[in-house]
Amino acid sequence: MNSQTVLVTGGAGYIGSHACVELLKAGYHVVVVDNLSNSKSESLLRVQHITGKSLTFYQVDIRDKQALTEIFDKESPTTVIHFAGLKAVGESCEQPQLYYHNNVFGTLVLTEVMSNANVKQLVFSSSATVYGESTFPQYTEDFPLGAINPYGRSKAMIEDILRDLYAADKISQTNSPWKIALLRYFNPIGAHESGMIGEDPNGIPNNLMPYVAQVAIGKLPQLSVFGDDYPTRDGTGIRDYIHVVDLVKGHLNAIQALNNHCFEAGGCKAYNLGAGKGYSVLEIIKTFEQVTGKLINYKISPRRTGDLAECFANPDLALKELNWKVEKDLHDMVTDTWNWQTKNPQGYI
Ligand code: NAD
Ligand code: UD1
Repeated sequence: MNSQTVLVTGGAGYIGSHACVELLKAGYHVVVVDNLSNSKSESLLRVQHITGKSLTFYQVDIRDKQALTEIFDKESPTTVIHFAGLKAVGESCEQPQLYYHNNVFGTLVLTEVMSNANVKQLVFSSSATVYGESTFPQYTEDFPLGAINPYGRSKAMIEDILRDLYAADKISQTNSPWKIALLRYFNPIGAHESGMIGEDPNGIPNNLMPYVAQVAIGKLPQLSVFGDDYPTRDGTGIRDYIHVVDLVKGHLNAIQALNNHCFEAGGCKAYNLGAGKGYSVLEIIKTFEQVTGKLINYKISPRRTGDLAECFANPDLALKELNWKVEKDLHDMVTDTWNWQTKNPQGYI
């Protein structure tokens, strides 16, 4: 068992709530800081119900330096997992200042408070979106970065800031070094197998899986398949979908790596979290139909601006250094999405 306290920013959200379940199950003390701008505290009640364990929740914005400092003073975390952020690509193009203020400035405040409290272990939610476009669709961590929208650029800027923080401590040699894992997620989908927590998008979903689930349950009339003329096996876009429970387990492995000899002298390293293979939009639809017995009403529409034909991870580094790989398959992802959707047709209410 574990007596470390992990502070989870954004812990009430989709990925954060699943992380809290796994952290509590592994014996960590969990402190959540979330302003509930894109979530409901009900998710945290359900996390505690699933695990039979309690966590501490502060409804606080990470940009509120004083409140955050008080939380660090009171709770003495050893590690922070930083999920808090805004994540809608379209909205980030309409309101870039909001995204840079929330995501980038929020991380600056968080890391200042961490430095002051001498808490220097951080696991950060980055994204495959930070990579530039490539003719070869499988990404390794050393591939050049080149985000193409404000959301993606906010993630790339934060990665730069965190690399700089680590480098600054290395130069001064007086401080304890930063230990930072930048986890670049591919496409998280699915839900906890209990069906009690899952993805609860605000309004009409932007992403494929929640959209398909809402068509299947009758909340939305029809799915638009964005393009069937890509140079892929069936013409539709291919992505590396990863079960959210597999994804959050990668964070626990990252904490262990930060604690052990790999990061003894500090470090700031990026890891891809993906399955290493992709599925097309039509393959997702077909699997959804097979698992649920529902027909998905869809039509072929024009391509969505900014979409790549194909994108999947090379997850070898995470296997080698974090001892992590995915365990669940597409059938599990669809089954758990559908279980969550049918048990919570209106999301958290
Ligand atoms: P989410 O919106 O469900 O969770 C984010 C949480 O952060 C929410 O609970 C929100 O209320 C909180 N939050 C936002 N700004 C905050 C602030 N200033 N102070 C305190 N709390 C704040 O999103 P998610 O899907 O769980 O994503 C978690 C993280 O992973 C995000 O940083 C996101 O960019 C990143 N990510 C997500 C995906 C994905 O497909 N879901 C892919 C790659 C990266
Ligand atoms: C999108 C974001 C990315 C973010 C990721 C996970 C864009 C351009 N990119 O990536 O920054 O990190 O979500 O949150 O928004 N599709 C349809 N119809 C739909 C929705 C999607 O055909 O209604 C297709 C897309 O064209 C794509 C695939 O489904 O081929 C997956 O789309 P989506 O779930 O939005 O993920 P990404 O595009 O990979």
